[in-house]
Amino acid sequence: MSAPTGRVPDELPDQLPDQLPDQLPDQLIVHGGLALAGTVEVPGDKSISHRALLIGSLTEGPSVARGVSPGEDVTCTSAAVQALGVRVERDPQGSTRPGGRGSVTTIEGGAESLVEPSSEIDCGNSGTTMRLLAGILAARPWDVRMAGDASLSERPMDRIAEPLGQMGATVTGTGSRCKPPLSIRGGALKGIEYAPPQASSQVKSCVLLAGLGARGDTVVREAVATRRHTEEMLERCGADIEEYTEGTAHLVRLRSSALRPFDLVVPGDPSQAAFWVVAACVVPDSEIRLPGIYAGAGRRGFIDVLARMGADVSESASGRPGSWATEADLVARYGPLSATEVKASEVTGLDEVPVLAVAGAVAEGTTVFRDMGELRVKESDRLQGIVDLLGAFGGRAEIRGDDLLVHGPARLRSGEFRAVGDHRMAMAAAVAAAAASKGAPSVIRGWSCVATSYPSFAEDLAQLAGAR
Ligand code: S3P
Repeated sequence: MSAPTGRVPDELPDQLPDQLPDQLPDQLIVHGGLALAGTVEVPGDKSISHRALLIGSLTEGPSVARGVSPGEDVTCTSAAVQALGVRVERDPQGSTRPGGRGSVTTIEGGAESLVEPSSEIDCGNSGTTMRLLAGILAARPWDVRMAGDASLSERPMDRIAEPLGQMGATVTGTGSRCKPPLSIRGGALKGIEYAPPQASSQVKSCVLLAGLGARGDTVVREAVATRRHTEEMLERCGADIEEYTEGTAHLVRLRSSALRPFDLVVPGDPSQAAFWVVAACVVPDSEIRLPGIYAGAGRRGFIDVLARMGADVSESASGRPGSWATEADLVARYGPLSATEVKASEVTGLDEVPVLAVAGAVAEGTTVFRDMGELRVKESDRLQGIVDLLGAFGGRAEIRGDDLLVHGPARLRSGEFRAVGDHRMAMAAAVAAAAASKGAPSVIRGWSCVATSYPSFAEDLAQLAGAR
């Protein structure tokens, strides 16, 4: 094999169990032990991109988002708002503000201009699309069906059906956990005070978006503060919103508001940057630079965890014109790591846990991830998936109740892993494979699922591996 890493369209391995003869193999081959060096511009943040499209659909006049995530999840949100009559135009060559990333997306709708969709809305693999859009739909007197792929059809929607029901909408799905497809009958909503039983920004955002069209105040009380992109975006649009604390609780209060249009540059996605930061830390002699990454509260937990593990990760203010106050340039370098204890509350959303577990596998000692039950209801059961992933590359992990224990240090070796439709598991496996000692290449099957969030990950890995 010639290329150090990357897709292998031109050569077929001995066995292709799931392939039709004329299909390209849906896999990534990774050669371990090659230092990774260079600069990566990760995709625009996925959470902010979803919200730009959804909230931009409600503003009084066209809104502009520069550098929206190119992943399929965000494309689903774009198609979904278009089904509500919103005009979305993406100009791939558009002139960004200096330093902006890639394409320019214009979103033109308006809270009073949305129309009832004529058919079912396809949310693909994207829980964020389904849960946030449900909030917008609940405030409208329509009957709408939303469906998703096999993975999304297994994810619990009772967590949004409950508060939306209290506000006056009817959300029905399958079984006691209200799994998709979902039917939403919206209507005249009233504001509520709601304390989600699980730490979930998607639930908070769903309730706030419904609150935009409700009578009276809507309050979300979080025991653990989650990512606050919905609040940031609504503030930017001039909504009547305030955040405050009561004891250890974090509260958001929102009153039905008209929204003014925005023009923003989407910062780099920290959850994608995390793959490269960990890769630099675990692959000998590596150094990776990541400009313009969102590093604010609710998203920067993985940086703090790695710092505690002794990782060499530095952060400086982003010099990009139009950058957010919460944006930073990151540089990560290889070095020894030691075990730590990671609480769910410091990496809310838990998106970075699969790749942090790879760091834990090579660290000296046992890294304990506490209260990780929510990992079971992500795009796949990531709790078991991490145990399988580390095992495939010579690491060792175990589940105790809702805790995950990763026993290090392991000398990772090449292996084979199937990503079962979960983008973050596929990319975490690629990082483990890159850290494996030189030898036979690793194979990550089901690789194409990375298109949901980071279509160019393999190219970026190949470029980093070839840069020295
Ligand atoms: C997201 C919130 C998180 C995260 C997901 C995106 C968001 O989920 O896992 O990738 O954009 O609000 P939860 O809010 O369910 O924890």
